[in-house]
Amino acid sequence: MISPRQLANKEWEMEADSRQLVNCTDWLSHNVAAWDWIAGRINSTFPLEELDLTSWCYSSSRILDYGCGTGRLMIELNRLGIKNVIGMDTSSNMCKIARTRMPGAIVTWISNPRVPKFSDLMFDTVILVGVLSSVVPVNERKALVMQLRDAIWPGGKILIADFGRSDEPIYRNRYRLPTFEKYTFKTEEDLFIHHFECEEIIDLLGSGFNTRETRRISTMTIHGNLLPGHIVLADRS
Ligand SMILES: C[S@@+](CC[C@H](N)C(=O)[O-])C[C@H]1O[C@@H](n2cnc3c(N)ncnc32)[C@H](O)[C@@H]1O
Repeated sequence: MISPRQLANKEWEMEADSRQLVNCTDWLSHNVAAWDWIAGRINSTFPLEELDLTSWCYSSSRILDYGCGTGRLMIELNRLGIKNVIGMDTSSNMCKIARTRMPGAIVTWISNPRVPKFSDLMFDTVILVGVLSSVVPVNERKALVMQLRDAIWPGGKILIADFGRSDEPIYRNRYRLPTFEKYTFKTEEDLFIHHFECEEIIDLLGSGFNTRETRRISTMTIHGNLLPGHIVLADRS
């Protein structure tokens, strides 16, 4: 009998592109490379206005925009007068674009996604917008959240905003295709993307955080598909 892993590999063998990612098992690194490849070609769509930034971010706070991409959130925070912000991303191309868009901003490239280096800096708030959906599978998400916790002052905050599971047929069909975890599917851009339930995000935070607020919103993907979105704000315990 064929195992789910073998089945999944078969599917990827058929779909493998010129980068020859056949039988890849390091899904995290696959996604890091795929994001770097498409940097500057797609724009993130998670609606920043839904984050209600001014109600819980203070101008004096030191903020880490983890997975900052092209600097969209950093620019918005700066516009709101919140200037003590550092961006970090595993894609050097994304970092380059962010630096060009925000000259003078601190944008650091993460050379190893499993060992992000914070140079002994501690943050009041860490924000991840549309990032954890690319951190696959779940053990990688858990490990990352634990490492981020260590870089947040006790009483500091984490904000996670990410894409939720959809009941639309297009997504139900995608979720049905076998991959290494449920609700993770391969996109046209060759990314493995995970869609969340809100409880799943709270679960990731574990006992290291106390969830303060959750909100379900409407978002749109880069392809114009409607999707639920989840926003979870939690205090580091
Ligand atoms: C959908 S984009 C979101 C960018 C930005 N947060 C925004 O909302 O505009 C996802 C970003 O996460 C970055 N990323 C993917 N995996 C990552 C990881 N393991 N650690 C840090 N960043 C990661 C990608 O390079 C990409 O810039």
